[in-house]
Amino acid sequence: MTTASTASFCPSSSSDQHTSPVPAGFADVLVGLQYGDEGKAKIIDALAPGYDVIARFNGGANAGHTIDTPQGRIALKQLPSGVFHPHTTLYIGSGCAINPWKLADEISQLREMGITLEGRLHISARAALVQPHHIAMDRRNGDTIGTTGNGIGPCYADRALRVRNDMRVNLMLGDLIANESEAVVSMRNVFSRMVNAEGGTSPWMAEMSDLLRDLPQVAASLRPYLQVDRGWLTNRVKAGASVLFEGAQSVLLDVVEGSQPYVTSSHTVPAFAYVGGDLSPKYHRRTIGVAKAIMSRVGRGPFPSELGGERSAQYCHDASRLRIGKAEEQSRFSVDTLLRSSDPFDVGTALRMLTAEYGTGTGRPRRIGMLDLAQLRDVIRTHAVDCVYLNKVDCLSHYAKSTYQGVPMRVHRDVLTADAMPDVLVYPGLTEQSLDQGREGMLDAAMHGFVDFIERHIGAPLAGLGLGPERASLVSLAPHPVAPVASSMPHDG
Ligand code: IMP
Repeated sequence: MTTASTASFCPSSSSDQHTSPVPAGFADVLVGLQYGDEGKAKIIDALAPGYDVIARFNGGANAGHTIDTPQGRIALKQLPSGVFHPHTTLYIGSGCAINPWKLADEISQLREMGITLEGRLHISARAALVQPHHIAMDRRNGDTIGTTGNGIGPCYADRALRVRNDMRVNLMLGDLIANESEAVVSMRNVFSRMVNAEGGTSPWMAEMSDLLRDLPQVAASLRPYLQVDRGWLTNRVKAGASVLFEGAQSVLLDVVEGSQPYVTSSHTVPAFAYVGGDLSPKYHRRTIGVAKAIMSRVGRGPFPSELGGERSAQYCHDASRLRIGKAEEQSRFSVDTLLRSSDPFDVGTALRMLTAEYGTGTGRPRRIGMLDLAQLRDVIRTHAVDCVYLNKVDCLSHYAKSTYQGVPMRVHRDVLTADAMPDVLVYPGLTEQSLDQGREGMLDAAMHGFVDFIERHIGAPLAGLGLGPERASLVSLAPHPVAPVASSMPHDG
């Protein structure tokens, strides 16, 4: 690996923007390249010092990340991850679906921690509003897909539908703030009509009427953050601001690009940042991808590298219905026994337990898979991703105690030798010593070899490696070119 600089690489320090060839402001887009939960917030936390604005452009309370702070742990769902960097301005674009109750709650939790967002947070008046009937519809129908039950799909569907049975169903945040009593009446009518059409009862009647009761107060608390100027972000960038767009969910869950119907309901691809984030694409500079070395997926849908395949998918689906989470799995199973099993399903269960792969908001056990380099390569090519941060690299060391005795990875068939079918190979693995040195910022030959191997197979440079959960365990890599994959033959396990 060389440290030679290239024109197109990802920011690794706050000084990066000052060397940028772009004279005015610019925007970078950071997206997850797999099925969500790749640790995007951790990367944004590291990159935030280099940006003036951190902006969300899609999704809503279906996203989520837990942040440990000196004042305690906080789970954020809708606020951009830059919230703990006081110099950053935060923007929630018109492409987002706002749950006003949860957003108000996040803001008030932060206030209790001494963080006030007045003057810092701007929310587009055009963002879609999640309403009680959306939440009820999602809870009733979401099981087939395994949605998070936050009403996001019905909310976006109503935005496109606009009117149902002569009633307006697509309220925006600006409508709520402009006339909250009218918005409450509208929401109550749509919810009542839905309940009546279903026989006059709903298991969520009391809960939804509590939400409507609280709405005027919630609306008042969000009023200071409303941004009615559609050109607000563009004006900031024209004046020289640098923006980091933070994608929610991930590219493989995009409503069109993903595998229907097992997708989220918004666009998660980087190009959408400029629609849902309210900025002209002419300001785009770089696309930054985040992936993780132990893959996971929540909900249903294809997952080619899943350990245990369909059995794992079914087990996780049932477990989430039965509310079996981390504590239950830990009391039922022995990690060491599972890890030594010759059954990939058992190895996947052990890895979930060892790497804490349970839903942030829901506690659901996540389906676990080996690193899929073939799939990553496709996503990177399709969306012209400039560089990749790879998280959870330290977790690969657990494989050493498994029957694989190395790290199984799925690679593109083109780069396999004829006798190396099927499309999985076993990489020799990384030792604790290599990882420890890496955390100190010194990459040994084995770690350089690993970086080189991954880059050749995905066709993009790695900008950083996550070698542990702590902030300090993110190791930035200097800009460098990547040799084409054809010149590399994989290590065959
Ligand atoms: P929805 O976004 O709640 O409609 O759920 C649709 C699908 O996207 C389900 O499989 C969810 O589990 C998945 N999903 C939604 N948000 C996230 C996320 O933040 N991380 C991972 N998966 C997500």
